[in-house]
Amino acid sequence: MSALEFLAKGAKKLEASEGDPAIALAMVHDLQMELCDVLESIADLLPDRHDRRLCAELSRALVPMIIRLHRFEEDVLFSTALHRSSAAESVSRVIKRFRGEHSEDEFRMEELSELLCELGRERQPENPEAAGYLLRSVFEAVRRHCAYEREYLSSLLEDL
Ligand SMILES: [Fe+2]
Repeated sequence: MSALEFLAKGAKKLEASEGDPAIALAMVHDLQMELCDVLESIADLLPDRHDRRLCAELSRALVPMIIRLHRFEEDVLFSTALHRSSAAESVSRVIKRFRGEHSEDEFRMEELSELLCELGRERQPENPEAAGYLLRSVFEAVRRHCAYEREYLSSLLEDL
């Protein structure tokens, strides 16, 4: 199974796991970690050994995929965390920050999607250094975001 098929399958499974938010939280973050690993592998193969077909496929799938994962987090997980928390005000402050990071990530993913389209077309990107920098800045930001979000939300979402 290709990395992209794995991600698409995972996103579908996620929607069937709404019954247990703690499991869904782990799943939604595992998918994003998988996506980061794919992006890192592309960065590692620059300037000219990247898989052009994967880049072309990912350039089309990336933005809808991340939006779908973010909306799941926001609609299902954040609302459950708020509902279960006894300190709703502080939780809602942190959740506001998570939502802000989602918007920033989606914005960066749009940019990254254009780069992936170029990497799908060209043997070598016009500016390999800038390409590597963009890829790394995206997956590093997503990994940081997920690590904090997971740590913060997991205790709120586990059954007491
Ligand atoms: Fe998130």
